[in-house]
Amino acid sequence: MKIAVMPGDGIGPEVTREAMRAIEALTLPNFSMTEALVGGVAYKATGHPLPPETLEIARDADAILFGAVGDPTCDALERHLRPEQAILGLRKELTLFANLRPARMFAGMEDASALRPEVARAIDLLIVRELNGDVYFGAKGHRKTEDGRREGWDMMSYAEDEVRRIAHVGFRAAQGRRGKLCSVDKANVLETSQLWRDVVIEVAAEYSDVALEHMYVDNAAMQLVRNPGAFDVVLTGNLFGDILSDQASMCVGSIGLLASASLGERQTAHGTFGLFEPIHGSAPDIAGQGKANPMATILSAAMLLRHSLGLEAQAVRIEAAVAKALADGVRGGDLGGTAGTQEIGDAVLARL
Ligand code: IPM
Ligand code: MG
Repeated sequence: MKIAVMPGDGIGPEVTREAMRAIEALTLPNFSMTEALVGGVAYKATGHPLPPETLEIARDADAILFGAVGDPTCDALERHLRPEQAILGLRKELTLFANLRPARMFAGMEDASALRPEVARAIDLLIVRELNGDVYFGAKGHRKTEDGRREGWDMMSYAEDEVRRIAHVGFRAAQGRRGKLCSVDKANVLETSQLWRDVVIEVAAEYSDVALEHMYVDNAAMQLVRNPGAFDVVLTGNLFGDILSDQASMCVGSIGLLASASLGERQTAHGTFGLFEPIHGSAPDIAGQGKANPMATILSAAMLLRHSLGLEAQAVRIEAAVAKALADGVRGGDLGGTAGTQEIGDAVLARL
């Protein structure tokens, strides 16, 4: 079992280190980790945020553990050289089209939520975000109009097969949970969304056991803070999923707690090849200070064990250890506590 480890920028290396320690503590047989450069650090070392060697290591692996990319000193670079292109490139090159972002309330954490505890307590949802299309990957550019105004543009589009394959992921996820799927779009304004909705309705015919509803994204943003407990699986496109998943994280308490899996179709010996990363970014303001909460990355490692390596029992062990640490009051700065990165990692290891 080969894991490619890509720590990346900012707090990426610190949080990834703790997740690797958690995996190592399980003493799995036949298992190796290979580190590779991504993001701003890769650009600075090789001139490209996603060097060919990194892509090769990724292709050769059963799973990727990813930290974060983003470096303000790279913001003035041409877009194709910016750190973010590393994660976008990996998702696209490896056809990782299905992004699973679970958000659930940990026992005892209700007070950390931005919502009232009685509202927050009920959160147990899964955002299924499409990751290979939408306005993220359409033609884009900037130009000067004839009258000399600067203009930027990005093309939003989805093809029906792209919607169909992610819809299947959403419906199957709902079958394994509470049987509810909410498809989020903006079909009252966007053609892209109308197609999305039409295709989701077609796919629904194959899943009579799943209750489907459609919601406009503005309303979904509102319902997510009004009554998040009503959501089970939220199926949505790349852009809306990006926004709603950050919002969901604050409903749970902190973006430092949300893990994610990005999956495609390639099968490994024991599961599905995927990339696993916390949904937070590189947090350059606190990088290198040992302050970042590694829990989201540790929980991403658990998802890696589950989805790519078929190690469900070990995944559950890690998740339980994180939940126990939280219940015991181990809290990073993001949750109003004082525990540092390594201290949190130690606390999780002690409970494994
Ligand atoms: C995320 C991030 C990325 C995205 C960035 C870093 C390109 O915000 O994974 O949510 O927009 O998808
Ligand atoms: Mg995001």
